Parts: sequence; C-alpha cells; structure tokens
Amino acid sequence: MKTLFSGVQPSGIPTIGNYIGAYKQFVELQDEYDSYFCIVDQHAITVPQDRLKLRENSRALAAIYLASGLDPEKISLFIQSEVSAHSKAAWMLQCTSYIGELERMTQFKDKARKQNQRDGISVGLLTYPALMAGDILLYSADVVPVGDDQTQHIEFTRNVAERFNAKYNDIFTLPEIKTPAVGGRIMSLNEPTKKMSKSDDNQKSFITLLDDPNQAAKKIRSAVTDSDTEIKFDKENKPGISNLLTIYSSLTDKTIDQLTEQYKDSSYGDFKKDLGEVVKEFLIGFQEKYNYYLNSEELDDILDAGRDKAARKADRMVEKMERAMGLGRKRKK
Ligand code: AMP
Ligand code: TRP
Repeated sequence: MKTLFSGVQPSGIPTIGNYIGAYKQFVELQDEYDSYFCIVDQHAITVPQDRLKLRENSRALAAIYLASGLDPEKISLFIQSEVSAHSKAAWMLQCTSYIGELERMTQFKDKARKQNQRDGISVGLLTYPALMAGDILLYSADVVPVGDDQTQHIEFTRNVAERFNAKYNDIFTLPEIKTPAVGGRIMSLNEPTKKMSKSDDNQKSFITLLDDPNQAAKKIRSAVTDSDTEIKFDKENKPGISNLLTIYSSLTDKTIDQLTEQYKDSSYGDFKKDLGEVVKEFLIGFQEKYNYYLNSEELDDILDAGRDKAARKADRMVEKMERAMGLGRKRKK
C-alpha cells in the first residue's frame, strides 16, 4: 500500500472551501493509502502565536479532521511537536539545504514582507521548508495532497531528498504532489472570481465550519449571482452561480447536471434558499460531530495512538538519516 502524508497548520477555523477542497478528499483517500495527517504546530510558530490559542487550535483541528469523516482506525492523526523525529529531521535537512534556495521561496518572501513590518523575521520562517521536507520524507510518503500554493515546497522537498540520496545514502522516496480534482477552488461568496479564504476581511465572503448554521444560510442567500436568471454551470460567464452549484453538488453528491435539471424553471432566489438549507443541515451535522470529539477523551486517545504509530515509523527513518550522516556512534558491542 502506498503512503500519504498531509499537514495543516492549526491557525484559525477552516472554511467550507477547505472542507470541499481538502478534508472531503482526505476521507476518500484514506482507504487507498496508509495515511498520516499531521497538525503542524511547529510550522505555526514560525510567526508569533498566542500560546493558549495555539493549543486550543491544535485540538480543534483534530476534531475538525475527525468530524470530516477521517476514521481513526485507518489513519494516524497526530500533532507534529509530539513526535520528536520531526525536529531531528528538520535539523539534518537544514544542513542539506542552501540559504539561497530557501530565500527564493515565494511563501517566505510573502510572509517575510508582512513580518518585517511587525516583529522581525524569525530564522524558522526561512527554514520552514526544511521542516516540511522532513515531515514528508520521514514517512516515505508517495503522495502529498495539498493546495497548489504548496507546489514550490514539494519541489524543494524532492530536490533536498535527491541531494541527500546522492550525497549520503539512497534512503528517501521522492514524493508527488496531489491537488484536488473537483471543488479544488471554492470561490468567495461576494466576489466569485476570488478564492474563498478565511483571512478575507469581508465576513460575508466565506463560511467557516463552525459558523452559526442560520447565519451561514443567510450568507448563501445573499451571495452574489450573475445578471441574467438562468441556473447553469459556466465558470467564465457565470462565476457566481457556478460556484454555488459546485458547493451544492459537493455537499449533496448530486451532480451539477442533476441540479441544473432540477432547477431549470426556478429563480436564483429559490435556488439559494434551498442551498442555504443544504449548507445549514451540513453544518448542524458537522458541528454535532465536532463538539462530540472536542469534548471527548476519545480525541486524546486518538492523538496518543496517532503519535505512537507515527513515532515508530519516523524514528526508524531518523536512525537511517543519522547513520547516513555519521551522527552519534556505533557501539563496540
Ligand atoms: P489553507 O487554508 O490555504 O491552509 O489550505 C488548506 C487546504 O484547503 C489546502 O489543501 C487547500 O488547497 C484547500 N483550500 C483552501 N482554500 C480553498 C478553497 N477556497 N477551495 C478549495 N480548497 C481550498
Ligand atoms: N506548508 C503547508 C501549508 O501551509 C503545511 C505543511 C507542513 C504540510 N508540513 C507539511 C503540508 C507536509 C503537506 C505535507 O499548507
């Protein structure tokens, strides 16, 4: 069985865009791959965090993964900082990376620009991709499902793995990026040519997984549509209604064709009212599961088991890396 690894930072509450574009696909992939899902809190501290908030977000993210339908019997779900192999691998891979290539990362350049205006740029922000490469390489991951903004980091991971394999010992698998097929880009509700994002200033443009379900239905009813009245899928000319059709289809598993047939004689208003109800029902069900996990001891047991399984695999790779680089010693018996 091939191996899958993915990581999400515990920063803020994910949107229904994240659910459709990421978590829902994870659930579909969990049967096909030996899967590791990591809450990357060490990546989060590359920029300043509130310590209480960070811990709260890490647990919340675990509950969100589980509420999305990941099955703890099949996958391992764990917090990065609880598996010490990640820090060890990161250091060895930092010593295999060059400052120049790290400085060229667009995410570094973007975040550095923002941080420079606030508290200064941490060294961790620069070496972030070496930590990420370690995450992936420790598990010999074949595939890494992420958004297309992570392409450069996956390329970096492959380059560093190849360099390590050539220089020390051929121990790493080169990972492939896997971007979502459908619903890969849910758009903003009030500016449907822009991606839905939790960091958008306009609260009406996105729905988070923990939004009040009635408020969420209201946001759908006031979503921007297009100037004519026909309910049809045409991303170019009708981005608003096409986005709503995608959301509807993803949350109900009705195809877009079935939906356009069903609503061929309806107004935008009726369509949005129905979709509002679909989103509301989805959120009610999701939040019920979320609250169950968040308040249960089961969540901690799942994270403990995930940590132990991950550590067993990651520690073996760290040992190989240390041997390849000549760290530590060989016992005389
Ligand atoms: P981010 O929120 O950017 O950290 O992304 C986490 C995951 O959600 C990535 O795999 C993204 O591809 C996915 N994602 C983020 N925003 C959207 C969106 N608007 N539509 C679909 N997928 C998204
Ligand atoms: N850098 C990723 C992001 O911001 C998060 C991440 C960290 C990750 N380590 C990873 C994603 C390993 C996939 C695999 O979205």
